[in-house]
Amino acid sequence: MTDIRSIVEQMTLEEKAALCTGASSWTTQAVERLGVPSIFVSDGPHGVRRVKDVDSLSDLSLPATCFPTASSLAATWDTGVLRALGEALAEECIALGVDVVLGPSNNLKRTPLCGRNFEYYSEDPFLSGELAVSFIDGVQSRGVGASLKHYAANNQEFQRFSIDAEVDERTLREIYLPAFETAVKRAKPWTVMCAYNKLNGTYCSENHWLLVDTLKDEWGFEGLVVSDWGAVHDRVASLRGGLDLEMPGPRDRRVKAVVEAVRAGTLDEAVLNESVRRILGVVFKAAATPKGGTFDAPAHHALARKIAAEGMVLLKNNGLLPLKNRQNIAVIGRAAKEPHFQGGGSSHINPTQVDIPFDELQRAAGGAELSYSEGYPADDTLQPALVEAAAAAARAAEVALIFVALPAYKESEGYDRADLDLTAQQVALIKAVTAVQPDTVVILNNGSAVVMGEWLDGAAAVLEAWMMGQAGGGAVADVLFGAVNPSGKLAETFPCALADTPAYINYPGGNGEVRYGEGLFIGYRYYDAKGMPVQFPFGYGGSYTSFAYSPARVSAETFRDVDGVSVSLEVTNSGQVAGKEVVQVYVHDHQSALVRPPKELKGFAKVALAPGESKTVTIHLDCRAFAYYHPGYGRWITEDGQFDLLVGASAADIRAVQTVTLQSTLALPSILDRESTLREWLADPRGQAVLEPISRPMMAQMSAAFGGGESEASPSIGMDAMRFMMDLPLLSLLQFQESALPMPAEDLVAGLLAQL
Ligand code: BGC
Repeated sequence: MTDIRSIVEQMTLEEKAALCTGASSWTTQAVERLGVPSIFVSDGPHGVRRVKDVDSLSDLSLPATCFPTASSLAATWDTGVLRALGEALAEECIALGVDVVLGPSNNLKRTPLCGRNFEYYSEDPFLSGELAVSFIDGVQSRGVGASLKHYAANNQEFQRFSIDAEVDERTLREIYLPAFETAVKRAKPWTVMCAYNKLNGTYCSENHWLLVDTLKDEWGFEGLVVSDWGAVHDRVASLRGGLDLEMPGPRDRRVKAVVEAVRAGTLDEAVLNESVRRILGVVFKAAATPKGGTFDAPAHHALARKIAAEGMVLLKNNGLLPLKNRQNIAVIGRAAKEPHFQGGGSSHINPTQVDIPFDELQRAAGGAELSYSEGYPADDTLQPALVEAAAAAARAAEVALIFVALPAYKESEGYDRADLDLTAQQVALIKAVTAVQPDTVVILNNGSAVVMGEWLDGAAAVLEAWMMGQAGGGAVADVLFGAVNPSGKLAETFPCALADTPAYINYPGGNGEVRYGEGLFIGYRYYDAKGMPVQFPFGYGGSYTSFAYSPARVSAETFRDVDGVSVSLEVTNSGQVAGKEVVQVYVHDHQSALVRPPKELKGFAKVALAPGESKTVTIHLDCRAFAYYHPGYGRWITEDGQFDLLVGASAADIRAVQTVTLQSTLALPSILDRESTLREWLADPRGQAVLEPISRPMMAQMSAAFGGGESEASPSIGMDAMRFMMDLPLLSLLQFQESALPMPAEDLVAGLLAQL
């Protein structure tokens, strides 16, 4: 075992400062005299982007498997898939000499406009957290590190280097942080990458609350925090804020600044030592896994194909799919020959091979005749001749397959989308083809929701294939011809229109700030609360078979929060072909002191079923499934009361409900203060007790003062005195009747507060 403390003690101040900034774009500083090696980090997250030249940020990387991107991975709802992907990535890292892969990317999809949503899992923190745990477990099980990113509130590309995300603490704790918290606590990533943006006024790279108080102290993160590439503004401030490793390097001025700050006494050397200790911890962990050898590229290509098929979501099918006995197929859309299988930016992989959808369809279609029409150009021009040619081919065929890829100029890392539309040419193409060929399937390649209102009705089937990775062409053929029964479900809502989306009014912000005004209500939490229709709900996805759900059972009707509760039911494949169903459990709180979303995902399971087969699905819900973050207490709390456990096939398709009663074991301190209202005093058991001696006469007197009985509308000024009083601060209420009090109202309230 390497004695890290002793190495830290032997390092000079200059060596320590230098270690905390990269030696190149992708490597850390070695300290040869003390046997400290350098480590190599690479993007991430759905393939290994191992550049040849360590000083280049963007050169062509060594060939590696390009797996489907996160939107597709999340739509599998399969933690086993994420784990297998992680293991494969680690194997490629080892072969390519990479110690840490920069992923998973785990920001929430606050708005479908975020250009980088293809790299993020979901709009739901629970689902995102579970998937990230499996990804990290897979990678790290092979002795390679993962880097959980981008921490935190990096939910848009617009001004991502500088924007200040203004997010209240409850929203952070319940929506934007749990996907990180779960991954940190359960999977223990070797590194966490801080985001570029500011959070509540402070750059994430300098944010002590985020990096030290929350990540390191509260969640127990033992690894190193690395900056996003170029996210450091002030190296000394970032060290103080908990940022251990700055990337990329070298940055001599930064290193000097750290040395000078320690000498001048403005940076405590203990802070630097702590970062050095963390970096060395990861460096030596990485060194324990020898690098080199090769990876099994064909096997990884096959895995990429399997995963891509698992993630495809059948959004619509009037029975046309799977394709059977078609002799004449019109394949339309340039993405059929030039597949759009990954997103632009730092995650861009140099694939080992690429399946061309057209060729794979030809192979799967046996002797059928396939025609090809380009349909739309590579740029944003309108080309009616391409539409006409495609429509003519579609008319002449028995079935048309339109491959539509949202182009990189509309969706990429680095910039956001301006709208949720396909290009005007693509919309015109789909409309023209479906007008002449009712048996048309639209296959989509995109990273986040698109609106379909203009053309959805005309299509017989729609398959959301996402950015499907290098083997996506084969996977599409597998699904279209029924070799694979689709089982993906949306990990994000597809809205009817951009203006319907939760962050619409608060996005993208201005004057350097974006205010998360919708708070807890993103994704289905918002559409549920508003009772708004959506194009396709969260959790939705079709199959070539059907599934029946039995009524649900619970392990206990009344349970203590610390014990949690389990819900079980039987799911049956009631159709003719084998398939997989994703069973989802949402929790609805009947009553809470603070507003809560109508329901929240707290469990899920994916089950494979042969035709006619039934399986019992049991999902355990722990204390946290019922808790919410109360800023008044500064902690997660549970409240006594009833909760519905909603078991469904999507957020909008609840098949079974059970109501359970939770008994909270928390003994919370009273948070009543001078501002607390009468309602709050009465809702607090201790408040109610100390108020008891004075509450009756006080209320009677106040009611009389307002000219009404306790619950009658006042005849004199037309209001219900009781309702009026309940939401007044107790102090204000007492001040109205101060003459009748034995002491000034302020003293009386102070006395009551002292008794709590
Ligand atoms: C991205 C990171 C990436 C890094 C290194 C940044 O611009 O935001 O996700 O890991 O570059 O390429």
